[in-house]
Amino acid sequence: MPKPDYTVLDFPPPPPERPYVIVNMVMSVDGKVVVDGTEQGLGSPVDQRLMRELRVHADVVLNGASTLRASGSSSRLGDPILEQVRAARGRPALPIAATITASADLPLDRIFFTAADFDAIVYAIRGAPAARLAAIRATGRPVVLLPKRDPLAAMLRHMRGELGASLLLCEGGPTLNAGLFASGAVDELFVTIGPRIVAGRETLTPVEGDRPFTRRTMKRLDLVSAVPNEETGELYCRYRVRR
Ligand SMILES: NC(=O)c1ccc[n+]([C@@H]2O[C@H](COP(=O)([O-])OP(=O)(O)OC[C@H]3O[C@@H](n4cnc5c(N)ncnc54)[C@H](OP(=O)(O)O)[C@@H]3O)[C@@H](O)[C@H]2O)c1
Repeated sequence: MPKPDYTVLDFPPPPPERPYVIVNMVMSVDGKVVVDGTEQGLGSPVDQRLMRELRVHADVVLNGASTLRASGSSSRLGDPILEQVRAARGRPALPIAATITASADLPLDRIFFTAADFDAIVYAIRGAPAARLAAIRATGRPVVLLPKRDPLAAMLRHMRGELGASLLLCEGGPTLNAGLFASGAVDELFVTIGPRIVAGRETLTPVEGDRPFTRRTMKRLDLVSAVPNEETGELYCRYRVRR
């Protein structure tokens, strides 16, 4: 099957103040990442396999709170063989799952909070409602408070310094991706282009946010690999953000 093997990728070492950051998304040919409210249906089982293969490299798997609310979030690999690959590299069986929220309004019944097989951490912005923070802590998941100013940089410093994370895999959504791109923290983008058209002026694309980049500030990417799959009609792309 013409599928890349994402278990054997090499990544550079992280900078001192944050993990190396890779983003993974699936989108339709018209650049949309949501259909009927979630990403489900955009990617084939091969795309989902690649998503899990990327998790093999991750110390932390991060989702924005809206993705957690829409789809749930987990850092599971879904295959003991992938867990063995991690174990052979001296890593814990599963990465830590993480989310970031300003509202602290999170669905506490989702596996992110109830699973015992992976650790999870909530990054919340200082000033979030105390009762909601207490309810999150009552699930047993730790809450790390971030400053209102530059919270993403503080989150990344915490991951590197306190969690010892070398590689962060961000699995969206587009609002969180936009913040990470805007702060210059994204090192690589993995994107699967699926043979679908979703349409809709308001339908989210992989990177949203309040302000677009300009010709001067827009991010420039170098294509590392692009593997077509004639069976699924998908194209699996890996880009490195140019510094
Ligand atoms: N196709 C794909 O590959 C893919 C991947 C992931 C998600 N999705 C889809 O994308 C949609 C969600 O995307 P989205 O852009 O609306 O949301 P998102 O990026 O998943 O989450 C946004 C939320 O995360 C929190 N957040 C993000 N950055 C923050 C920051 N710098 N400081 C504090 N909090 C921050 C906020 O949570 P609070 O609102 O709690 O304050 C914010 O409202 C869902 O429909 C999901 O299915 C698609």
